[in-house]
Amino acid sequence: MIRKFHITTFGCQMNEHDSEIIAGLLTEDGYVETDNRDDADVVIINTCSIRENADKRFFGTLGQLKKRKEREEDLMVCVCGCMMQQQHIIDTIKAKYPWVDVIFGTHNIDAFPRLLRNAYSEKTKQREILEGGGDIVEGLPAIRKFKSKALVNIMYGCNNFCTYCIVPYTRGRERSRSPEAIVDEVRKLVSDGVKEVMLLGQNVNSYSGGDTDFAGLIYMLNDIEGLERIRFMTSHPKDLSDRLIKAYVDCDKLCKNIHLPVQAGSSAVLKRMNRHYDREKYLSLVEKLKEAVPGITISTDIIVGFPGETEEDFEETLSLVRQVEYDSAFTFLYSVRKGTPAERYEDQIPEEVKHERFNRLVELINGISARKNRAYEGRVEKVLVEGPGKTGENIYSGRTDGFKLVNFYSEKDLTGETVDIEITRGKTFSLEGRLV
Ligand code: SAH
Ligand code: SF4
Ligand code: F3S
Repeated sequence: MIRKFHITTFGCQMNEHDSEIIAGLLTEDGYVETDNRDDADVVIINTCSIRENADKRFFGTLGQLKKRKEREEDLMVCVCGCMMQQQHIIDTIKAKYPWVDVIFGTHNIDAFPRLLRNAYSEKTKQREILEGGGDIVEGLPAIRKFKSKALVNIMYGCNNFCTYCIVPYTRGRERSRSPEAIVDEVRKLVSDGVKEVMLLGQNVNSYSGGDTDFAGLIYMLNDIEGLERIRFMTSHPKDLSDRLIKAYVDCDKLCKNIHLPVQAGSSAVLKRMNRHYDREKYLSLVEKLKEAVPGITISTDIIVGFPGETEEDFEETLSLVRQVEYDSAFTFLYSVRKGTPAERYEDQIPEEVKHERFNRLVELINGISARKNRAYEGRVEKVLVEGPGKTGENIYSGRTDGFKLVNFYSEKDLTGETVDIEITRGKTFSLEGRLV
């Protein structure tokens, strides 16, 4: 009997890539992936814990699965990801959802096939979580979502301990892969048809593979024949070196785009967040980038309502956003995370104040995004086509070098190709264009 599996993935690219590996491992073991969760014999939920909403969505999903589990004894429910690295979550699952069959964490994805086999053969619950990240396991298979672009982990974990953030607790300390292993993987991907790689890490620019730093790795990858684009995510402002800025100038494949989370515009707030830079330092980095790399697109993450954030602090965030003129920004309401230092900070901000500030910020950002996108009208951009778009029949979508989403009409399926598109309309979150 061929068993079908389905993975629900919450969270960041890191988790998306982990899910690609889980799919690869199960496929090697003879399972077949299905798009329909209701049709799957093995249901996997890869969880995120970055904000309270993420936790809630997981428990909501488990709630939905409960009825099916009661009806179908053979259904395997497996849960993994960042939430599983927290003891209070495991305790909750044991108490309220004891029917979950397999639990594993972020440090032992490779153990999953074995745990699943045991769950089937022994008919017992399998729970295996490792506290910290051990040695990096190389060579795990992956089933990629896109043909033309691939996610490539270059480092794992985070050492920064921003005071609001759960990630250092769920992903452990920083560990970098060797540059040889990365170059090897990218070469293989390219021979498989991949044109663009997204280098992944919670803090990619603190990458350290022996004598090779992050900029050094970019130079190495830039030499790979057949590769067209290199991107990375996420870089921390404190580790943005002059060498990396120079790599933008020297390496033609490095896309002229950076995601540079600022989190807040007030130096006092940044200090309490333990970000290791202040407003002036961040703004000077942006100036340097804009000067060295004309036309570079910049996006960011911002947290609204961090404990103790005053109206004046918040206005400093607004003024920083006006000054940088971000192409886009992800905005978040501060969410208390169990076990983080900020959980114990006094002056937690009332929800209604957070929401009011959040709305003002989003309005400002959207206005800037729309204005910047309108400036693309009439320009011709190289677009790497990702596949059919969501806005209609014969509409395809892809990304510009600067990571702008472009929708355009084509009779022919151009998935995986790089095409010239004349931009006809700039909207808040995307561009429209026509094939040249
Ligand atoms: N490693 C990346 C970010 C990973 S988490 C970096 O440092 O840039 C993605 C974003 O979630 C963060 O940049 C932050 O803006 C947001 N975030 C993290 N913890 C949060 C919390 N407790 N409440 C609200 N937003 C949070
Ligand atoms: Fe979290 Fe800060 Fe690490 Fe990013 S750098 S993952 S925000 S602790
Ligand atoms: Fe979420 Fe874990 Fe990523 S907490 S944001 S899935 S590293």
